[in-house]
Amino acid sequence: MIRLGIIGCGRISDLHAQAYLDHPEATIVAVADPDAGNLAMRGAAWGVPESARYQDHRDLLARPDVDAVEILVPHHLHVPITLDAMAAGKHVSLQKPMALSIDDALMMVKAGHEHGVTFKVFENFVFYPPVVRAKELVENGEIGDVLSIRIKSNAGWSPTAWEVPAAASAWRIDPEKCGGGPLVFDDGHHKFAIAWHFLGLADRVHAFIGSWMGVLDSPSVVSWRHPGGQVGSLEVVYSPELQLHTVQYAQDDRVEITGTKGVIWVTRGHGRMLDAPPVVLYRDGETRGFSDMPTGWETSFHRSGQHFVDALINGTAPSLTGEQGAEVLAFALAAQESSRTGTAVSPQADDLGAGETRHG
Ligand SMILES: NC(=O)c1ccc[n+]([C@@H]2O[C@H](COP(=O)([O-])OP(=O)(O)OC[C@H]3O[C@@H](n4cnc5c(N)ncnc54)[C@H](O)[C@@H]3O)[C@@H](O)[C@H]2O)c1
Repeated sequence: MIRLGIIGCGRISDLHAQAYLDHPEATIVAVADPDAGNLAMRGAAWGVPESARYQDHRDLLARPDVDAVEILVPHHLHVPITLDAMAAGKHVSLQKPMALSIDDALMMVKAGHEHGVTFKVFENFVFYPPVVRAKELVENGEIGDVLSIRIKSNAGWSPTAWEVPAAASAWRIDPEKCGGGPLVFDDGHHKFAIAWHFLGLADRVHAFIGSWMGVLDSPSVVSWRHPGGQVGSLEVVYSPELQLHTVQYAQDDRVEITGTKGVIWVTRGHGRMLDAPPVVLYRDGETRGFSDMPTGWETSFHRSGQHFVDALINGTAPSLTGEQGAEVLAFALAAQESSRTGTAVSPQADDLGAGETRHG
């Protein structure tokens, strides 16, 4: 049985907790959050007794019966809380982006190895069933060799979206706490992870990051090239009057992967804009749709969380490893730097050694 502590009981924690509550070999034994309201609400919902709810994460880490922690806090707190957890001998699953700089990311990777703990960077999008199916199709050679990846992310509004507390939006529009903007850096991290998942780390990144009312980093476009010559792009647009179908964030994504003999589309992400199968394959003059998979965005969290438990039980490497997480971070940071400087930037992650296990 893997005994988990959850540090940070905010908006996203519900989706994480469900993975552990549903895993037959996992249990949530303690929670921590300085916000007394979130602590009480989530602690009660997950069946954690009041005596195991802490406002200081160090009290949770002092418990010998916590094997692993899930860290779900604003980005500027990722590094200190992760280092505390590793020093306490806990395995760590840390939400993306793992840090705000590569140096900090590598410090955590090193600490994880020194303390002999498993370190997972939590990236749910590579567990999203339509993305998983697209990867299988690519690996089966359905579109030949991949030549390009194009990702489009629309943000808008939705009457059915879940409520996002003001506090959860406030730290995201503070670059000191978030590390970049809410759309291209925070959420964009997932899109860089998707591109990385299919093609590895880019070697040149160029970005134009716009500004909507000085609050959102939209409209924006990021383009890149991979060492093998493949190219990719991410376009992010916030449309204030665009109504979206969703039960989580008011957002939707699409991915288009082009190969030497075919094209694959992943037609949805957070929400649902297109009335189309979640995965579509075009090759040999024919279009095939694939609908035999769950498409709820929450499934990606469920699978990523359960994968962490399985990795701990089996002693296998998690996805993403710390080294892999640092590669994706380098990708995301390169876009920020490119937009700032107006030049193409080479992501600095040469010595991470993540490449060998990237597609494992
Ligand atoms: N994978 C995804 O798609 C996805 C989606 C949303 C959020 N996230 C990530 O999850 C993390 C949390 O995001 P959120 O939307 O839940 O934010 P949030 O603001 O809703 O929740 C953060 C929580 O952390 C708590 N906190 C602050 N300082 C703390 C401390 N020292 N110890 C313990 N708890 C502390 C806050 O009180 C709050 O309850 C971020 O890293 C974010 O990037 C990922």
